[in-house]
Amino acid sequence: MTTSGGARGRFITFEGIDGAGKSTQIDALVELLRRRGVEVVRTREPGGTALGEKLRQLLLNDAMHVDTEAMLMFAARREHIAQVIEPALAAGKWVACDRFTDATYAYQVGGRGLEPKRCDALEAWVHPGLQPDLTFLFDLPPEAAAARVAATGAAPDRFEQERRDFFERVRAAYLERAHREPGRFRILDATRARDEIAAAIAATLAERGWP
Ligand code: TYD
Repeated sequence: MTTSGGARGRFITFEGIDGAGKSTQIDALVELLRRRGVEVVRTREPGGTALGEKLRQLLLNDAMHVDTEAMLMFAARREHIAQVIEPALAAGKWVACDRFTDATYAYQVGGRGLEPKRCDALEAWVHPGLQPDLTFLFDLPPEAAAARVAATGAAPDRFEQERRDFFERVRAAYLERAHREPGRFRILDATRARDEIAAAIAATLAERGWP
């Protein structure tokens, strides 16, 4: 798709359970793309807009019904798409986003047991025509991820406080989605060394003929 004569940007998302090491790799990829002359917007969910960051504070701290949680995730996402993601892609910029709708399927549907059709309905409402071009799934056992979260020394948020079986379900939901859409997803073994993961990410771009 093109807009005002220019190519539409690419939409790349990063997923995985808490403690998978996404942030470092997103930083590295953004840096790499910028060195190659690509304009990249780095953003995150829930968040990415002033209102979305306020919703993030509620989502990470306040107990709520799972339906409320899912609807607030999508409310933040609606703002994010309208204010940040769509304008950037339309202007030919790439968007590197820390989590997107796959996270709602993994955490709220897989982790908390939200009925999948409710998530389907919200997705169809909020972004019927938009999907990531590429999604990196950082996969690792919940024990390893929990050890990394603990090592940061930061107070765990409402999700990070969940038990191991919650993260087992989130991980399984992510893997199931990745296996269903192998063209969009690239599964990364997040237990590997940082530079090996960075190399796998760069190789994925090269396979697609991207910068
Ligand atoms: P994240 O930014 O990865 O947390 P951190 O800043 O600690 O690295 O994500 C925030 C949390 O929100 C994470 O635990 C997963 C959760 N989440 C959902 O449950 N559903 C969603 O749709 C999204 C986008 C995030």
